Amino acid sequence: MADNKGKTVVITGATKGIGKAIAYKFAQNGVNVAFTYNSNEEVANDIAKDLSEKYSIKAKAYKLNILELDEFKPLFLEIDKDFSRVDFFVSNAMIYGRPVVGGYGKFMKLRPTKGLQNIYTATVGAFVRGSQEAATRMKEVGGGAIVTLSSTGNLVYIDNYAGHGTNKAAVEAMSRYASMELGEWGIRVNAVSGGPIDTDALKAFTNYEEVKEETIKRSALNRMGTPEDIAGAVYFLCSDDASWITGHTLIVDGGTTFR
Ligand SMILES: NC(=O)c1ccc[n+]([C@@H]2O[C@H](COP(=O)([O-])OP(=O)(O)OC[C@H]3O[C@@H](n4cnc5c(N)ncnc54)[C@H](OP(=O)(O)O)[C@@H]3O)[C@@H](O)[C@H]2O)c1
Repeated sequence: MADNKGKTVVITGATKGIGKAIAYKFAQNGVNVAFTYNSNEEVANDIAKDLSEKYSIKAKAYKLNILELDEFKPLFLEIDKDFSRVDFFVSNAMIYGRPVVGGYGKFMKLRPTKGLQNIYTATVGAFVRGSQEAATRMKEVGGGAIVTLSSTGNLVYIDNYAGHGTNKAAVEAMSRYASMELGEWGIRVNAVSGGPIDTDALKAFTNYEEVKEETIKRSALNRMGTPEDIAGAVYFLCSDDASWITGHTLIVDGGTTFR
C-alpha cells in the first residue's frame, strides 16, 4: 500500500473499539496520530505513549466532546501546535448512555428535541465541523482524505436503532456532498459502513447477545466483525490505492446485510 510515512491523521474517539484500531493501523504505516478522548484521559495517554514507542511516530491525545461543536476549532488549533500538517481526518466518535435517551429506542418513544437531536449533533454535526477544520489544513498540503464511520443499521432494521440509523444515512449523504465540493482541493471524502462490530458501543445495545448471535448466523464468514476489519477499510480509503474513490460508501459487514 502506498507510502504515508510522516503524514498526520486526526481521529475522533480513539480510546477503544474501532477508533483505537484505526489509530494503530495508521501508526503501523508510519503515520503520526492526533486523536481525541472524551472521558478516558488516562487510557488515551497510555495509547499515545504505546503508539509512539512501538511505531516511532508522534502520537498525542486531546480532549473533545462531540456534543460541543465549538470545541472543534480550539482542538485543531492545539493540533497545529504539535503537528506540522493534517492529511487525514476520521470522524469516528459516537455518544452512548444518557445523551442518547430519547434517541436510542422504539420509533414511538423518540424525542426529536432530546436524544435524537444529540445523535444528529454527534453524527452529522461532528462530521461537518471536524471535516471543515481538517479540510482547510489539507488544502495547505495539496490534498488529503476524510472518512466518516457509518453503519449498516441505515440499510437494515435493527431494534431501537432508528435514531442512529437515520443519522448514519444523513452523514453518508453529507459525505457525498462534501466530496463534490472538496475535490477541487484534492480532498477525497468517503464513508465506511460497518456491520455489527464487537465493541463497548455494541455491548450497550439492550439486545447485545441476540445481535451477536444473529450477526454470526447472517455472516457469510460465520463470525462477528472486529475493529480491525473496519480499520483496514478506513486506511485503504485514505491511501493512494483509493486515489479515484470519492463520494463512496464502502460496506464492511461480512455479508450480513445481503442475507
Ligand atoms: N460497534 C459497532 O457495531 C459499529 C458498527 C458500525 C459502525 N460503528 C461506528 O463506529 C464508530 C465507533 O464505534 P465503536 O463501536 O468503536 O464505539 P466505542 O468502542 O464505544 O468507542 C466510542 C469512542 O467515542 C468516544 N466518545 C464517547 N462519547 C463521546 C463524546 N461525547 N464526545 C467525544 N467522544 C466521545 C469514546 O471516548 P472515551 O472512551 O474517552 O469516552 C470512545 O473513544 C461510531 O461512529 C459507530 O457508530 C460501530
